[in-house]
Amino acid sequence: MIIIFGSINMDLVARVQRIARPGETVLSRRADSFFGGKGANQAVAAARISRGGGMEVAMTGAVGNDPFGIACLKNLEENGVDVSTIRVTDEPTGCAFITVDETGENAITVASGANMALRSSDLPESLLSKASVLVLQMEVPIADNLDVAARARRAGVKVVWNFAPVPAVGERSTMSELLAVTDVLVVNEHEALSIAGIVGEPAGDDFLKAGSAIARSFGPTCIVTAGARGAYAIAPDGAQTHVTARPITPVDTTGAGDTFVGVLANGLDEGLEIGRAMERACAAASLSCLTAGAQAGMPLREALDRHLAQD
Ligand code: RIB
Ligand code: NA
Repeated sequence: MIIIFGSINMDLVARVQRIARPGETVLSRRADSFFGGKGANQAVAAARISRGGGMEVAMTGAVGNDPFGIACLKNLEENGVDVSTIRVTDEPTGCAFITVDETGENAITVASGANMALRSSDLPESLLSKASVLVLQMEVPIADNLDVAARARRAGVKVVWNFAPVPAVGERSTMSELLAVTDVLVVNEHEALSIAGIVGEPAGDDFLKAGSAIARSFGPTCIVTAGARGAYAIAPDGAQTHVTARPITPVDTTGAGDTFVGVLANGLDEGLEIGRAMERACAAASLSCLTAGAQAGMPLREALDRHLAQD
């Protein structure tokens, strides 16, 4: 079983020709709302491809007592996610303001709201001890993320941590505390470079060098997702695995990283070795980019298997 401890947002999305620069106004025809939040996206990605369909994915999170929160809960349930440890709080449901340009690239501002009320104590030990994998991101309080990760480690649960967005910790000691309780770190190229900078291993623009330094110095396997170039895993001993992505023309890349993380977690939960789990994760992430919104394009198990069989 997989537990996702993390954020739940409603995404308000405007498509623009190009993303506004500071001080600039750009026009968009309309705004659309989509279910989002890195945690919820990862939970939906994992649940859609889980084989049995029956509650193999549980999400621990917090929403507001408002229409967005109620809709987000219902959406998770409809996707087969166990929502019994999602708490309804007095804070407003998290909301993400997203602009997507003509090439499918995005810029995101998250108003955290209820996500910052999430606590480690919202995940009971009785549930945690049933899991094989715990998945974390960086949109809920960092102290609670860290506490849950440490608890998972003690319970023998594998910690998959997506450091997105990279926290503004600024200090090597804090960052190394986070990395020390991480089994599998998942980051994109920019995040890999920022983390390497924070821990005093500057890597210029060489994200593989950054990933290697992080894995060697702090012990997690470091997976760097590199968009059209696929993904790389770097083990603490320096061993590298590269998985390629089939070329696509993206409509909306929002949530592609989350699809990767959720499907990767499912693969690890099913006992796949990391390269095989990454292949599935990359293929699912590509497919997710073909539809607008973070979750709409995430494949079901059958569609993903069919896509992989085409190779
Ligand atoms: O990773 C994409 C997600 O980041 C969006 O769904 C948005 O809610 C933000 O959390
Ligand atoms: Na998408």
